[in-house]
Amino acid sequence: MADDTIVINGGKKLEGTVKISGAKNATVALIPAAVLASDVVTIFDVPNIADVKALATLLNTLNVKVTKKNDHIIIDPTEIQNVTLDDEAVGKLRASYYFMGALLGRYKKVKIKMSGGCYLGPRPIDLHLKGFEALGAHIDYDDGYYMLEAEELKGANIYLDIASVGATINIMMAAVFAKGRTTIENAAKEPEIIDVSSMLNKMGAKIRGAGTSEITIDGVEKLGGCYHEIIPDRIEAGTYIILAAACAKYCKIENVIPQHIESLLMKLEEMGVKMNIGVDFVEVFESHDLKPIEVKTLPYPGLATDLQQPLTALMTQAVGISKVHETIYPERFKHCHELNLMGAEIEVGEASSTISGPTPLFGSVVTATDLRCGASLVIAALIAEGQTTIKGAYHIYRGYDHIKEKLKALGADVH
Ligand code: EPU
Repeated sequence: MADDTIVINGGKKLEGTVKISGAKNATVALIPAAVLASDVVTIFDVPNIADVKALATLLNTLNVKVTKKNDHIIIDPTEIQNVTLDDEAVGKLRASYYFMGALLGRYKKVKIKMSGGCYLGPRPIDLHLKGFEALGAHIDYDDGYYMLEAEELKGANIYLDIASVGATINIMMAAVFAKGRTTIENAAKEPEIIDVSSMLNKMGAKIRGAGTSEITIDGVEKLGGCYHEIIPDRIEAGTYIILAAACAKYCKIENVIPQHIESLLMKLEEMGVKMNIGVDFVEVFESHDLKPIEVKTLPYPGLATDLQQPLTALMTQAVGISKVHETIYPERFKHCHELNLMGAEIEVGEASSTISGPTPLFGSVVTATDLRCGASLVIAALIAEGQTTIKGAYHIYRGYDHIKEKLKALGADVH
């Protein structure tokens, strides 16, 4: 990205319409999933985010041709070569681990460097590896590299101790060519998992039950190409709805599946945010005297941990004491320190934060320590009087498509 700082002159009332892009956390799995195809895969509504660029670099390393046209990418894996993935791009995003499942599935062999991504406290991948082992893979780890190899992959019954999004998708991809039936129990139910399974099924896979806690995959011999449109990003949608509640006169957020963010919408209603929820849009009207709330992050359909950080910025404006209980990533509270630099009064406890409001926020120099911390700081900066400089903006560009342009269209003073 060109620059690593976002500067916002806050205190303006925003107004207008914003269109939500394709879901980042589906995209980052769909792109690696394309290497399972023996023909061209075209994906529509691809968000313009740094993670997509990093994944395209990894595809190029594998000799897979990637053509980007407007909002879609054409992935041609017909000349693919299964080489070691140790490109710098692997370390740029955690989702590069989806190449483990995809390449293991296709070649029964993969060598890849440890993946990177946001630091939200420890983020183990033991459940992914256990799943691969259950399918017949042998796993070695040496000097920062994972080496996975199987003579053959065989369907297995896999129970996930935690309903992990990444493990569910990775095992699904590794199992598409496994002999016989694989069952994933206590599978994660996030909408992005349904999206990945639906693209794989268009390619010819036999996956049933995605979106429920039991997924079955019947192995097939070959997958073909397909056309696929990515679902809207529920976290980007939630972020703009929260942002609108914090500082808009009126805002229409388009290309939303409201059902995907029902837990957030209910909590915002509890706060007193005035909204009109349509079939595929949400309108937010200016709201005053917001009430404090208590939230607990949970796997889908519970409140997404990714929205906890943006929501905290809004909670600083509620009249009274709000509370966040984080059950997915107990250490995901770095944004609180930064928000306090802007005038917030947040106390971080064990896997929780307590927000006393309302507090006026003022412009400051703060750092986006991770993607959603960045989103939280953007919202706070829009509320704040004066100028805020957000450092580490590359984290924000990893997940928010054209964020400056979208904010400018709402009347924000951002550069
Ligand atoms: N976990 C394990 N072992 C594993 C895998 C996960 O203990 O092998 C634990 C994690 O430490 C965590 C919990 O299980 O406590 C859930 O993690 P999960 O695997 O579901 O998360 P993920 O797949 O690594 C995805 C999103 C995250 C989002 C989480 C939770 C992608 C690329 N990332 O991560 O998104 O926070 O699910 O919903 O899909 C973001 O977009 O900002 C982001 C971090």
